[in-house]
Amino acid sequence: MDDFFFPRSIAVIGAARESGKVGHSVLKNLLGANFQGELIPVNPNADEILGLKAYPKIKKVDLAIVVVPAHIVPSVLEDSARAGVKASIIISAGFRESGARGAILEAQIRKIAKQHGLRIVGPNCLGIISTGANMNASFASEYPNKGNISLISQSGAICTSFLDWAANESLGFDKLVSVGNKADVTEAELLKYIARDPSTRVVALYVEGIDDGREFMRVAKEVSRVTPLIVLKAGRTDIGAKAASSHTGALAGSDAAYDAAFKQSGVIRVSSIDELFDTVKAFSRCPIPKSQGMAIVTNAGGLGVLASDAAAEFKVPLANFTRETIASLQSTLTKESNIYNPVDVLGDAKPRRYFDTLKTVLTDQNVGLVTVLLTPQAMTEPEETAGLLNEISLHASKPIFTSFVGGKELSKSLDMLKQGKSANFTSPETAVRAASNLIKFREIALAAETESIPLGGGGKKRGALLQIRRVQEERRTSLTEEEGLIVLRSYGITTPKERLVASRDKVVQAACEIGYPVVLKANSPDISHKTDVGAVITGISTDKTAKNAFDQIYANINKRIPQARIEGVTIQEMVHGVEVIIGVTRDPQFGPFITFGLGGVYVEVLRDVSHRLAPITLAEAKKMIAEVKSYPILLGTRGRKALDIDAIAHIILCVSRISQDFKEIQEIEINPLVVREKGCIAVDALVVIERRNNAIKNSGGGRLGS
Ligand SMILES: Nc1ncnc2c1ncn2[C@@H]1O[C@H](COP(=O)(O)OP(=O)(O)OP(=O)(O)O)[C@@H](O)[C@H]1O
Ligand SMILES: [Mg+2]
Repeated sequence: MDDFFFPRSIAVIGAARESGKVGHSVLKNLLGANFQGELIPVNPNADEILGLKAYPKIKKVDLAIVVVPAHIVPSVLEDSARAGVKASIIISAGFRESGARGAILEAQIRKIAKQHGLRIVGPNCLGIISTGANMNASFASEYPNKGNISLISQSGAICTSFLDWAANESLGFDKLVSVGNKADVTEAELLKYIARDPSTRVVALYVEGIDDGREFMRVAKEVSRVTPLIVLKAGRTDIGAKAASSHTGALAGSDAAYDAAFKQSGVIRVSSIDELFDTVKAFSRCPIPKSQGMAIVTNAGGLGVLASDAAAEFKVPLANFTRETIASLQSTLTKESNIYNPVDVLGDAKPRRYFDTLKTVLTDQNVGLVTVLLTPQAMTEPEETAGLLNEISLHASKPIFTSFVGGKELSKSLDMLKQGKSANFTSPETAVRAASNLIKFREIALAAETESIPLGGGGKKRGALLQIRRVQEERRTSLTEEEGLIVLRSYGITTPKERLVASRDKVVQAACEIGYPVVLKANSPDISHKTDVGAVITGISTDKTAKNAFDQIYANINKRIPQARIEGVTIQEMVHGVEVIIGVTRDPQFGPFITFGLGGVYVEVLRDVSHRLAPITLAEAKKMIAEVKSYPILLGTRGRKALDIDAIAHIILCVSRISQDFKEIQEIEINPLVVREKGCIAVDALVVIERRNNAIKNSGGGRLGS
């Protein structure tokens, strides 16, 4: 990685004499940034480019930048590798992004890279900027100041926007990488390298898709406890929610998996480019707050209220001032002022009043950060106020956010603020939103210190293994409810008392053994959703209705899906409680993906669910339960007692383990899990396994846990 960011020599293969060509811009940018190492333009048709001697062929350098047409990139790479080059940025486009032929070329360059141990950033990218090395190995028109922001972006255009925005904000960069098609070097690898460098204080990531989700999570988790990672991921709307058999599966779109991955690995996800800019600005300019309480100082009541509303919305607590602070504010401010948080210094506030108030609230131990709001009123002196704010911010150990709300009258003061160490935002709401992200990082770092390790699988449970083997041998893809419940039971999940009966005569005896009321359901590998075909009858409390229900179920199935195999009818104890749903599907990038929600309308109509990726910790499982909007129902409302939330969390851990132990399981759904004041019972299980053509041959041998 050092070769990419701190090379001692660079070759530009495809350097051009004509300005306007990318091969010209790259060389010009390298010269412009004052790169101190050796620079070698490679071009067989030129002797000299931009005052540098040009070479017809590549020689050994630390970094080769490739700007030739796509179809000659493979041969150029071969030459470079043979000359001893170990790192290459391929700026050229015309690869995977351009269609099938490009994809073949990309596979070719990946192969060359593997063969020779040559690392590639790109292709189809803007390049790399590393201010620590005075290196602009890109065709971006702007070269940034040195600073503490690093950016990894899947879009070159976002890089140029980011650079231009930062220039306007007087913010500087440490490293910037446009990853392009990621044929070789991934964002995970870059992240690991960049976040380790103390010159980088905050890393911004723009991603559209991550190929190896698990690896990304592993690295992000390691890095995020030290360096804030701010991610903007495009593609929130799920066009491709997979065709899944379970209810929860249909709700488990891939963006939800990204969301869970970010949450579980301490990444701060933002939802728009301006939130990305604002958040990066906050981290770049301000220290990390040591506590959460925010103080608001304003010269307009209205803005104060807007900021308070936003604080409630973004869960930023307002600080409770100490008695000393209140006494001090009382003595310095006029009696019309509001001395409680938000502090209203009134419309006639002169710079000194702002200054004194800010000084006072900053010393309050309950204040973690301060937001200063200003509107241009008759007596306001924006520039002088900005000057005094800068004076304070340069020495403050707490973050100071400002929002000077206006336009023409404020433009000069806004420019002045950029010279200080506060961060200015266009509105109180955006200031508070950025504050909430700043606070999130603090929470992430704290949580990382106390985090427990996810429960590993204790090996496949024998009961589950036998069921799954059998289903594979029979070349089926789904388990019957009965089989599914055995899988759950073998992992310690409670299931209702039940008997499987194949003939009408046995119904009454089985029902009596279990005890009325009972539920009757068909046991069939061909029916995933039994209710839909009239194959579940609940609330049966007499012998007669039990027998009738048995007949009814057979009749219903015969009528609706006559070809379905029926392996008898299950007579089940009827249990009472609140119904929740727990499901696991398999995400192509991130693996087992868990969904939780309350049963009935909450999941199906309101889509009120939460998600996490397996393996999961107990703390995460509890968080995921508390995240759904219908959570208060579990806490007990209107005189009802609270339900056993710990037991639900325990079951989430169990399904997490099952999905880890059995890679062949595609979906598990417990729908419903009946939750009671003490314990919970899984009354239905849907387990789907992948279709394997040679499953029988390979699954033999009888070694458990293999
Ligand atoms: N043992 C039981 N005790 C109490 N209620 C039950 C029991 N079994 C089933 N039910 C109720 O009947 C409903 C349908 O049963 P079950 O979940 O087994 O069938 P299903 O149609 O396959 O479900 P799904 O909606 O998951 O496709 C359950 O959601 C639950 O409300
Ligand atoms: Mg069900």
